[in-house]
Amino acid sequence: MDSPKLPYSLSASSSTPFASSAVKPHRKNLPSRNCILIIIATSSILLLLLTLILYATTSKSSHHRHNTPQQTPSSGDTPPPETPSPPPIAQIRLACNATRFPDHCFSSLSKPGRVPPDPKPVQIIHSAISVSFESLKSGQTKIKSILDSSAGNKNRTNIATICLQILSYAEHRTESTDVAVTSGDIKDARAWMSAALAYQYDCWSGLKTVNDTKQVVDTITFLDDLVKLTGNALSMMVSFDSFGDDVASWIHPATERDGFWEKAGPSLGSGMGTAKEADLGFPSGLTEDVTVCKDGGKGPCGYKTVQEAVDAAPGTNGTVKFVIRIREGVYEETVRVPFEKKNVVFIGDGMGKTVITGSLNVGQPGMTTYNSATVGVLGDGFMARDLTIENTAGADAHQAVAFRSDSDFSILENCEFLGNQDTVYAHSLRQFYKQCRIQGNVDFIFGNSAAVFQDCSILIASKNSKLEQGGGANNAITAHGRIDASQSTGFVFLNCSINGTEEYMKEFQANPKAHTNYLGRPWKEFSRTVFVNCNLESLISPEGWMPWDGDFALKTLYYGEYKNTGPGSVRSKRVPWSSEIPEKHVDVYSVANFIQAHEWASTTA
Ligand SMILES: *[C@@H]1O[C@H](CO)[C@@H](O)[C@H](O)[C@H]1NC(C)=O
Ligand SMILES: *[C@@H]1O[C@H](CO)[C@@H](O)[C@H](O)[C@H]1NC(C)=O
Ligand SMILES: *[C@@H]1O[C@H](CO)[C@@H](O)[C@H](O)[C@H]1NC(C)=O
Ligand SMILES: *[C@@H]1O[C@H](CO)[C@@H](O)[C@H](O)[C@H]1NC(C)=O
Ligand SMILES: *[C@@H]1O[C@H](CO)[C@@H](O)[C@H](O)[C@H]1NC(C)=O
Ligand SMILES: *[C@@H]1O[C@H](CO)[C@@H](O)[C@H](O)[C@H]1NC(C)=O
Repeated sequence: MDSPKLPYSLSASSSTPFASSAVKPHRKNLPSRNCILIIIATSSILLLLLTLILYATTSKSSHHRHNTPQQTPSSGDTPPPETPSPPPIAQIRLACNATRFPDHCFSSLSKPGRVPPDPKPVQIIHSAISVSFESLKSGQTKIKSILDSSAGNKNRTNIATICLQILSYAEHRTESTDVAVTSGDIKDARAWMSAALAYQYDCWSGLKTVNDTKQVVDTITFLDDLVKLTGNALSMMVSFDSFGDDVASWIHPATERDGFWEKAGPSLGSGMGTAKEADLGFPSGLTEDVTVCKDGGKGPCGYKTVQEAVDAAPGTNGTVKFVIRIREGVYEETVRVPFEKKNVVFIGDGMGKTVITGSLNVGQPGMTTYNSATVGVLGDGFMARDLTIENTAGADAHQAVAFRSDSDFSILENCEFLGNQDTVYAHSLRQFYKQCRIQGNVDFIFGNSAAVFQDCSILIASKNSKLEQGGGANNAITAHGRIDASQSTGFVFLNCSINGTEEYMKEFQANPKAHTNYLGRPWKEFSRTVFVNCNLESLISPEGWMPWDGDFALKTLYYGEYKNTGPGSVRSKRVPWSSEIPEKHVDVYSVANFIQAHEWASTTA
């Protein structure tokens, strides 16, 4: 039979090699292959049934309109309807009331055929996803035309190229979202749609820097609209996750700042540091597939550079890890783990022993913050332990990233990240940093991921500022960039130590008044960062947090603190737009609840 004219779901189009990002790399209770096959087969049958039912319902309703109710079914051989049935206005209005832009949502979903008659809430969400998806496809076409007409303009070509790249990731994440909504994995759906939204926004803000043609300006306007559509779909998922099928109970997007707290899901005891939580982290017992050594080609060493070893990794579909052992040595190279290479694992010989180093920075012609990373990772399930990643561009070089990650289900344990401004770009998706050492000075942990930093040492580094000029410094540890209240992103610091490097502490102690160090500042409107059970040394200024620009984001951000210790933790002089996390809600930020680490980060998997 014919498929419906408009896709109520993207499922049919999600059989790309990337749709498998819906597979968690080492989820507990992983079903066997046979079991998966059965599930796939069952789902296909269900899908077929659903399609048949939709088809039947549509025929039936049109049948009723054209015939008296008394007529028997046998007499009704009216052909299938030519036009889709009228939109279920009331339900669409209700669902759109859960979004930031209800009118925009309503006009996008009330077009005939968009939402099936008498929809389940999940069907409205599928429709909202497919509206976003179709708009994304048009956006990609527009950017392709910008690229085609920008030969000779290096800046515009650069931005359009990056845009096409990141929008392709948005495309794959949107497809996976649709699959996850169908299978009921709503936390995954929210994580992936949050990433799709971040990528669309990044493209939009990149184009703003090259807005010197009408074509670009028109495309910016188009992407404005796309970002709203995607945010709308995401908001519905948030309400669905909290309030379920009763659309009338869905609420307008809200944050902790509005007093809205999601239920803390899986509880691992009463909070941080329980026995079970200790079982989350880098898996034990991995054996290496290949080895990298500085002198290469000898003994077990197949590779001389990390990148060559990454290139040798298969593009894996499933849960198989590719373990790269990196022997002691300083590897001066730029490393990229591409989107299709999942479950790549780096194991070094220790922090300071295995060192991957680079010095790219935005002072270089054509260089962007994103591309400056010494190590940049896109593939899901990336893991690393026992190594150092650094960017040595220096304190005067401005943005110079050491490590950038867009890897979902990612674990970094016992790793060191060294830099100055923008050391760790935790760009998107779910990342778990455990027992790491992160060093920098300005916004040195930033991005729009959902990242948990547990048992980490966070160190403010010296800018080598001249003592005769007062030797002062003004630093912010974090700059979280959440752009929409419905994104499930934020930075969470659990049981971390906040201090300065020895060198910096000397400068600080020589003239404390000339130094201000803050826990964070709001890069974007819905910036969210919390510190729980951390030790904050005296270098943290009493105000605690720093504005970005005037009162930007101060009403919408959420900056929370809970049971921190040390001289920097005293809250009596804190800025009024920071908060103390209520005890009954602190479990929201457990590593299990916030990034679902119990599903994918078991040390025994
Ligand atoms: C939408 O929400 C507003 C405020 O929460 C409420 O007054 C209004 O009745 C709602 N509209 C619908 C259609 O439920
Ligand atoms: C490209 O960008 C650089 C740095 O922002 C700027 O100096 C240059 O004028 C731009 N070139 C063009 C053709 O716009
Ligand atoms: C384009 O850039 C100029 C200068 O930065 C700015 O004033 C203008 O608002 C921008 N237009 C759009 C549509 O973003
Ligand atoms: C807190 O972090 C320290 C240092 O990493 C570690 O030794 C300790 O076990 C952690 N405490 C808890 C309760 O997790
Ligand atoms: C992924 O799996 C499909 C089907 O099982 C296979 O055809 C394809 O080659 C695999 N892709 C990669 C990159 O391994
Ligand atoms: C903070 O750093 C200083 C200087 O290196 C050191 O003396 C102090 O012990 C550190 N504090 C903690 C809690 O580690």
